[in-house]
Amino acid sequence: MSRIPFHVNASEGAARVGELVFPRGTIRTPAFMPVGTAATVKALYPEQVRGTGADVVLGNVYHLMLRPGAERVASLGGLHAFMRWPHPILTDSGGFQVMSLSALRKLDKDGVTFRSHLDGSTHRLTPVRSIEIQSLLGSDIAMQFDECVRLPAPRSEIERAMLLSLDWAERSKVAFGSPEGRALFGIVQGGDDAALRSFSARRLVEIGFDGYAVGGLAVGEPQATMLSVLDDVVPELPVGRPRYLMGVGSPDDLLKCVARGIDMFDCVMPTRAGRHGQAFTRFGKINLKNARHADDPRPLDEESDCPALRDYSRAYLHHLVRSGEILGMMLLSWANVAYYQQLMAGAREAIAAGRFADYAETARAGWARGDI
Ligand code: GUN
Repeated sequence: MSRIPFHVNASEGAARVGELVFPRGTIRTPAFMPVGTAATVKALYPEQVRGTGADVVLGNVYHLMLRPGAERVASLGGLHAFMRWPHPILTDSGGFQVMSLSALRKLDKDGVTFRSHLDGSTHRLTPVRSIEIQSLLGSDIAMQFDECVRLPAPRSEIERAMLLSLDWAERSKVAFGSPEGRALFGIVQGGDDAALRSFSARRLVEIGFDGYAVGGLAVGEPQATMLSVLDDVVPELPVGRPRYLMGVGSPDDLLKCVARGIDMFDCVMPTRAGRHGQAFTRFGKINLKNARHADDPRPLDEESDCPALRDYSRAYLHHLVRSGEILGMMLLSWANVAYYQQLMAGAREAIAAGRFADYAETARAGWARGDI
């Protein structure tokens, strides 16, 4: 496996600031990766996403294999050229989305056969095919193929899926080989069971990956459970490799997980909330649908350097959202991705200066103060 350089430049407690260096660009960590499921971060131009400070976006094997097809994307020059995002891309391996989106699915020890949620056609994903698709797409970071169970689940079920995911981790690594300038991450599973989590993490480290993800969280468990899983898992992972918490989360989740040593995050929350009329700001979550904004001339945050937060009145955003106008979704998606990037940029600066604990405290006080 080719080794992608990861430099830890400063740390405060378990929190750290780092750089993951790809030929296509450097990912500054802690990093939030906007989700671009179907080769688009919904409602945003790639240049806008970049302008918020994002170094990397996410793509999904599941969606792209079904439409437009991985071979088609490859013949058009790969995912970066296709979506006009020349910076790093991480692709998720597909198993998680098969479980949550596809109509019928049948799991066996070699993979999963499923029906497309788009047209009912039958498809199969295995570790080898998932890695092949990620190579056709040309993503900078590929994820191992895994199985994630929803919580709560019986321990026997969590253990079975964790062991299967370890077997698929090995197969994914063999299939990946050592392509120049590309990384493969393993995924720790094991539900809410500390012993199963430690076992999974140790075995993945023995197999050896460029980075380690924690999967199977934010699947219905309380935040305290997620944090306690991180307390079990992070100490098992090598200091010199990036750690990625999959599918998380709210601004509060992000700061608490950064404090526990997580370097990378992805979540649909900022873009999905934006399409539903909600804004994440320094003053907490603001629901622009609410009638109290109808006459409010203030912007969401006059101090932000993102035009969507700084230049448009709450009254106008309220009007757009109430009218179902596309621009409302675009502006709020932009504002939310920008706020998430500001939060992470602030975290990086604060850790480097040894004042991350204060930074997180101040951010929480702002959310608690509310929108006044
Ligand atoms: N996204 C959120 N959680 C998971 C997970 O456990 N596995 C994968 N592959 N993707 C995820």
